[in-house]
Amino acid sequence: MKKLPTRIFGKTGKSVSVLGLGAMPMSVDGRPSEEDCLQVLKCAFELGVTFIDTADAYCLNEHEKHHNERLIEIAIERYGNPKTVFVATKGGLMRPEGRWETNGDPKHLEKTIGESYQALGGQRPIFLWQFHSPDPKFPIKESLKAARDAVEKGLVLYVGVSNFSVKQIEEAREVVDIVSVQNQYSPFHRQPENDGVLDYCEKENLVFLPWSPYGGWYRYEKLRQLSTLDRIASKHDRSVYQAVLAWLRQKSPCVLPIPGASQLETLENSMAGFDFVLSDEECEKLDQEFSVL
Ligand SMILES: NC(=O)c1ccc[n+]([C@@H]2O[C@H](COP(=O)([O-])OP(=O)(O)OC[C@H]3O[C@@H](n4cnc5c(N)ncnc54)[C@H](OP(=O)(O)O)[C@@H]3O)[C@@H](O)[C@H]2O)c1
Repeated sequence: MKKLPTRIFGKTGKSVSVLGLGAMPMSVDGRPSEEDCLQVLKCAFELGVTFIDTADAYCLNEHEKHHNERLIEIAIERYGNPKTVFVATKGGLMRPEGRWETNGDPKHLEKTIGESYQALGGQRPIFLWQFHSPDPKFPIKESLKAARDAVEKGLVLYVGVSNFSVKQIEEAREVVDIVSVQNQYSPFHRQPENDGVLDYCEKENLVFLPWSPYGGWYRYEKLRQLSTLDRIASKHDRSVYQAVLAWLRQKSPCVLPIPGASQLETLENSMAGFDFVLSDEECEKLDQEFSVL
């Protein structure tokens, strides 16, 4: 397979692969062995993946916080190149007994950014630190001060936000420069097309990272049951997953999908879709089929 081509990551000017890898499935429930996960990451580097999305909270519970970041760092040390692999992490969610809970306390964020920095090698700034989700207990401007301070200290290069509305992105930008937005976007969840976030990102040169582009672990298999999607993908000898990535990327040049994978076959299949382009008519047909999901 040809190596993935690159694109510019918005305002940062850095070149990253046109598809990123969502590393969450390698650290949450149902994850494969550590050695198998390292082989998946090694394969990702060989395919030319240079953008990996992670979070402090990708783990089983609070006791193993930063599990996913440590895994990625081991893989980079063994098989990758720290100068050309860009890791995007997040902070602001806790995993008490495996639950997901927001924590936007700036003191907590300061602590977890420091821990993420260490987990990712402790020798170079975090490429992108994303505030995982607004916490109603703390004003966004208060939470984001921790990110601004981390940039000033040289722990973080760029800041992004996740699960934010346009109004919330604008609030964040009053405190610190924001380069990316990571919100849920898939055939099952098309809110970014209607809530203004996708248009805003395109206009403001922010990278939009659609999370769970296949609908996540509990829905990704349903994509195979969609007859129009299946017909269009089969006509081009592609998988339905590759067709979904093409559909997302053709929505806006600011879209950089981060499909999750914990197995070699699924990783290879998704990444081989980098050159798949749908016709306008095919996109419209998919729009129609997805609109009733
Ligand atoms: N910011 C947030 O709040 C937030 C929330 C959720 C997720 N995320 C990020 O978004 C990333 C992607 O989301 P996700 O992992 O939840 O879900 P997803 O990308 O929608 O789906 C991942 C699932 O699809 C399967 N899969 C992937 N490629 C496939 C292919 N080509 N053929 C068949 N099956 C395939 C994977 O299987 P295998 O595991 O068996 O390989 C995995 O279980 C996450 O990894 C994480 O980095 C962010």
